[in-house]
Amino acid sequence: MINLANAHRSIRSFTDQDIDAALLNDLLFTGLRSSSSGNMQTWSVIVTRDEANKRKLYELHLEQTMVLEAPVVLTFCADLFRMREWIRVNKAKQSFDDLLGFLTGTVDAAIAAQTISLAAESVGLGICYMGTTWWAADEIIEFLDLPQGVFPVTSLVVGYPAEDPALRDRLPLELMVHQERYQRLSDEEIRDSHAEREQKAWARYNAMESVRQRLAEAGIRHVTDYYTSKFKYSKELHLRVSKMLIETLQAQGLWL
Ligand SMILES: Cc1cc2nc3c(=O)[nH]c(=O)nc-3n(C[C@H](O)[C@H](O)[C@H](O)COP(=O)(O)O)c2cc1C
Repeated sequence: MINLANAHRSIRSFTDQDIDAALLNDLLFTGLRSSSSGNMQTWSVIVTRDEANKRKLYELHLEQTMVLEAPVVLTFCADLFRMREWIRVNKAKQSFDDLLGFLTGTVDAAIAAQTISLAAESVGLGICYMGTTWWAADEIIEFLDLPQGVFPVTSLVVGYPAEDPALRDRLPLELMVHQERYQRLSDEEIRDSHAEREQKAWARYNAMESVRQRLAEAGIRHVTDYYTSKFKYSKELHLRVSKMLIETLQAQGLWL
């Protein structure tokens, strides 16, 4: 298990080989055994295999080609609808139509997604998460016909790898792990601990001609400039998506 987790790489290119229905069912079944808040299992997953539906998801996920290549796309959702229906049919006092309900479902969905990811990797499949799920949450809700109380949290492409990428760099564990109290880093410690990442990322970007040109044209001189530029995670993008998320959470009955 430790070796499997330590060998993880996201896979973005897949062979034509389909995933056997019984195998996919076994993988999804591992998600059922995941821990969940109060054992309420406030998550659902939409399985997309149909080519036309995958094409629509490809459009919604910023045309990431892995959506077309992968035989299976899984959209994990926070699901408070089922819980609320159970409460309704039993005429109990209604709840879960709020931010806490949404966050509960979000954590449950993410845990199930990661359990299924590891199970998939254990049988030689490759996976990649898609953060674009948040960016197009309103349109994904419409396309997948998600009822009130259901919200897409993350998506996975799953398939047999057609690439064998190197392990990506990681920040040192000491940055994530704090003993007893949060340890703030000095400017020098921030610089030193991120130096290797900066060098590797810069070399990777410059090795791709299209990215290298983009960086030069936009006058981007450092990896952090790139991360906050219009090409990655700009403040404008964050504001726009954050506003849409709040409005969509309200519309789905998951705010206040
Ligand atoms: C929540 C989440 C969203 C992600 N979204 C995307 C995405 O939209 N497109 C993509 O190519 N990779 C995406 N990734 C994959 C990350 O880029 C990847 O995990 C990271 O670069 C580390 O690489 P590794 O998984 O190969 O170790 C996402 C990962 C997570 C956990």
